[in-house]
Amino acid sequence: MFETLTKAPGDKILALMGEYAADQRPTKIDLGVGVYKDEKGVTPVMKAVRKAEERILSNEKTKTYLGIAGNKGYGNAVLDLVLADSVDRARVRIAQAPGGTGSLWVLMQLINRARPGATVYVSDPTWANHNPIAINSGLKVATYPYFDAETRGVKFEQMLAALDKLGAGDVVLLHGCCHNPTGANLSNAQWDQVAASLLRTGALPFIDLAYLGFGDGIEPDAYGTRKILSTVPEALVAFSGSKNFGLYRERVGAAILMARDAEQAEITNSQLLNIIRGAYSQPPDHGAEIIRTILEDAGLRAEWETELAEMRNRMISLRKKLSDAIRERSNSTDFDFVADHRGMFSLLGLSNEAVDHLKAANGVYMTSDSRINVAGIPEDRVGDLAEAFLSATR
Ligand code: LMR
Repeated sequence: MFETLTKAPGDKILALMGEYAADQRPTKIDLGVGVYKDEKGVTPVMKAVRKAEERILSNEKTKTYLGIAGNKGYGNAVLDLVLADSVDRARVRIAQAPGGTGSLWVLMQLINRARPGATVYVSDPTWANHNPIAINSGLKVATYPYFDAETRGVKFEQMLAALDKLGAGDVVLLHGCCHNPTGANLSNAQWDQVAASLLRTGALPFIDLAYLGFGDGIEPDAYGTRKILSTVPEALVAFSGSKNFGLYRERVGAAILMARDAEQAEITNSQLLNIIRGAYSQPPDHGAEIIRTILEDAGLRAEWETELAEMRNRMISLRKKLSDAIRERSNSTDFDFVADHRGMFSLLGLSNEAVDHLKAANGVYMTSDSRINVAGIPEDRVGDLAEAFLSATR
């Protein structure tokens, strides 16, 4: 049987984790995989999460099944968090799913049931896993212009012109906030224009919302998603609780669909539940129950929001420290964009050779496209990092 197989390509982001772990140099710096780290370089269990887990451990009475859509309290709490009162909930359905990736997967399967072989337009560039998930679901992938390598901002005019050419039956994958890998994001006015374009063309917006709260705050980061959903008739959202709740390995996310009306929502949801049942039957509960417990309790929620703000502010301050350190050493504003970007990542625009050199000579790890995870910048070595980046680009 297996002799028919050839070796599949490894995942570049996850492979980098292994390479970093195997590096024996004590001075190595991990700017690779998108995992938050505190000033000690640790990815902590959030205090609100710990407290929620303690409550769950003492209060949970059964481990019986919850159903295909998972934890209902979690689903409602996530809808409140993501959508607030931006849309009529009768048109919306949510299914808990394993992480952002699991949510993307079931929604891509749903698209393929509705429009077999449809094209998903992704930003150029986009998260390395979008393409495989779409292809493995039977869909086609094409790109729309997004990152401007000169300004390190968004090529908005080109992006909009490309979106304007799409039609009903096309799918547009958008990063709800904190664009991965670039760190360059749309302004509210630009989100308004994207929403208007999608309404005009009838292309289906599919929003990947993996970093809510990591950019400028929960409300500002939700602007684009709420704007789009309150404008168009149909939309999909893949939500992740991996980063903002620090629940990476618990695999907690949600697949959200919005249909034209309640009846269509019910029919579409029946297909989504059918896909889930045939894939993994029901999602694992632990992470969802943690998030439900936090979001439904005013005290835990306030504590979580404070911790989330600490993470966000630390990333913003590290961005500024790095761009200041580079400016001081080079007298140039070439890396100021790092301070303007938001979320966990910035795409530095270095060559593959420069990325390889930084790894070999300095033990600085980043993905081959020169994406850095700003949370991995060690506060006491910002100067070393600035020197290394400058020497790699000279
Ligand atoms: C990343 O982009 O590094 C994260 O989203 C982790 C992953 O699964 O790739």
